[in-house]
Amino acid sequence: MRIPLRARFAAIAVAAFGAAYACGGGPRLGSPTDYQMWIHYSEAGAIQSAMIRGDLPAARESARHLADAPRAEGIGPSGDAHVRELAAWAREIRDAPSFGDAAVATGHLAATCGECHEDVGGGPVFLQGDPPEDRGFSGHMILHLWAADRMWEGMVGPSAVSWRDGAEVFREDPLEGGAIPAGAQVFADRLHELGREAVGMTALRRQAVQYGRMIEQCAGCHAETGVTRRPDARPGRLVPTGR
Ligand code: HEC
Ligand code: HEC
Repeated sequence: MRIPLRARFAAIAVAAFGAAYACGGGPRLGSPTDYQMWIHYSEAGAIQSAMIRGDLPAARESARHLADAPRAEGIGPSGDAHVRELAAWAREIRDAPSFGDAAVATGHLAATCGECHEDVGGGPVFLQGDPPEDRGFSGHMILHLWAADRMWEGMVGPSAVSWRDGAEVFREDPLEGGAIPAGAQVFADRLHELGREAVGMTALRRQAVQYGRMIEQCAGCHAETGVTRRPDARPGRLVPTGR
């Protein structure tokens, strides 16, 4: 039986999350901040995976929740500015005129999480296993997702190590030939090129833009190959090269 792709994305995300996340820095479970963080975490994660799938309407819906979420309490004035910025990026995604704009705003969303964590000296610690083996086409996709998640966590943490570990996956050659339809090759090539550039990047806001361009290639190829199956999931203006 073929499991619908949406369900598979969700299952992979849950599996990766369950394995990869660990509480660090003495989280006060049950505190308002803690509660707020889980809203942030799950909505931001939903945006990220919808964007990778190429499902802009679903990303907009999660962004709407995040834009409307109550402010984080108990973080103090330096936190307030970050919370406002987070809501502003969520609105950018909600209202973005193109898929590419939403993708870059998605990167900035994660960078905003990371900036606040850095500022207040709190935040998540992500544990990670080894990358999954790159076996066949689906294996290559699961490896892509593993890499995109490490880069995402690299911004949210923030963690330079996670970012680099994820980016390094794209140093390998893209899939070529028979496995990929002709119109899709350009996305694979561009994705790996952007990934190679990403390896040495350390500034959060540069990472944010690069990440946005990379997930635009994921979504572009998913649209090109018909992976984005929801009829209302029009990816909008998808271009194989970054601007
Ligand atoms: C206003 C500052 C701020 C922003 C913005 C922020 N965080 Fe946090 N985050 C914190 C603080 C402070 C903690 C530590 C919370 C605690 O100890 O209760 C934390 C902790 C976390 C945790 C760990 C929670 C736990 O139970 O251990 C996760 C996960 C998390 N943040 C994810 C995110 C994500 C994802 C975003 C962006 C969508 C985000 N945060 C944005 C300040 C922020
Ligand atoms: C060259 C085109 C192409 C690119 C680039 C691409 N994908 Fe895919 N992806 C596909 C196709 C085709 C499928 C459906 C085939 C399948 O079921 O594995 C797919 C399926 C997936 C799946 C579901 C895998 C499964 O078997 O359940 C995930 C997860 C995924 N892609 C993640 C990504 C991520 C993350 C990126 C970007 C970092 C990306 N993909 C880039 C073409 C692409």
